[in-house]
Amino acid sequence: MNTQEYINQSEQYVLHTYNRFQMVLEKGKGAYLYDTDGKEYLDFAAGIAVYALGYGNEKLNAALKDQIDQLVHTSNLYYNVPMAEASRKVVEATGLSKVFFTNSGTEAIEGAIKAARKYAFLKDGSTDHEIIAMKHSFHGRSLGALSVTGNDAYQAPFKPLIGGVKFAEFNNLESVKAQITDKTCAIILETLQGEGGIYPADADFIKGIREICDEKDIVLILDEIQCGMGRTGYLFAYQEYGIKPDITTVAKALGCGVPVGAFVLNEKLAENSLKPGDHGTTYGGNPFALRAVSTVFDLYDEMNLVDHVKQTAPYLEQTLEEIAAAYPAVFYGRRGKGFLQGLLVNADCKAGDIILAAHKEGLLTISAEGNVLRLAPPLIITEAQIDEMKEKLCRAVESLNK
Ligand SMILES: Cc1ncc(COP(=O)(O)O)c(C=O)c1O
Repeated sequence: MNTQEYINQSEQYVLHTYNRFQMVLEKGKGAYLYDTDGKEYLDFAAGIAVYALGYGNEKLNAALKDQIDQLVHTSNLYYNVPMAEASRKVVEATGLSKVFFTNSGTEAIEGAIKAARKYAFLKDGSTDHEIIAMKHSFHGRSLGALSVTGNDAYQAPFKPLIGGVKFAEFNNLESVKAQITDKTCAIILETLQGEGGIYPADADFIKGIREICDEKDIVLILDEIQCGMGRTGYLFAYQEYGIKPDITTVAKALGCGVPVGAFVLNEKLAENSLKPGDHGTTYGGNPFALRAVSTVFDLYDEMNLVDHVKQTAPYLEQTLEEIAAAYPAVFYGRRGKGFLQGLLVNADCKAGDIILAAHKEGLLTISAEGNVLRLAPPLIITEAQIDEMKEKLCRAVESLNK
């Protein structure tokens, strides 16, 4: 089949929930992807902040091939060999106490919500607890995760969603306080809002929320699905603020391409929430997924990946600021942390048009809410590749003016 035939056949059979870009990706190496026409793309999207190690990491591939030959699936009725190591590594990395493995980020959010509700139920036996979530947040598309996603357009056709969810302004502590009642059981937020437009939490805001949660025994859920696993220059973004959540959710780079997520609980929540029979999954945490998780943590250490992000991020930020300054008619600034950055696009231009022009130049980027061009490269990118991104993006922007 040629490229157009792959697209046509897929469109014939796949439910049309995405307006996909007209390319068929076939293979990848390092920070580069190749389509079925052999065109090379420098990837500053990383499968939406997933492929931290870059494509085709030989050690990850070898571990996965080995695991396929041993055992792919067992169900959660039994222990499996990678479980012992992967669970220890996740718990130690997050500084929390116990982990539940899922198949996706969305499912990690579902589990976190259930754990918080169960904790509150065990305290007072009532079933009308409330959750405070943030406007412009994104936590996933299942009904529970969608209920705490602050985006009217995503929610509207699927109402009624789960009850008792209130929305507050991100980075506005007073707005959160105004929503708190005796029924509040959890506050959920991304440590750095990704889909909503690349907004890092202010230190005062996140520390203030931690204090309120401590004072009122409210469960703090920090969603690190996009911003965690080293992307901000800290293994988990909350570590920069010197605070810990009661529950964190992780996915995306956790498996570096293998679909796996997790919610991780501190001791208080682990001891006082979900018990046998309360929650489960057939696939979640199977040996194949957990071999990926365990190997990913080893490779992060071996490759010093988080330090690499911390050291290289200033160069990325400076480069993006140079791009923004060079094209003031297109960009009005930069926002973000580490390797999760946004170029802010002026109202009379469209981030989507820049993305398409960049494809022609061999560069992949994505967008975020509010006309933001989002850059979320693999964590292995070098200064030379940042220069290459700049050249390609500048050519793309110039091509729009022609
Ligand atoms: C912050 C955040 N939470 C949750 C999700 C949902 O994760 P998944 O798509 O793996 O279900 C995403 C996905 O983009 C995300 O960015």
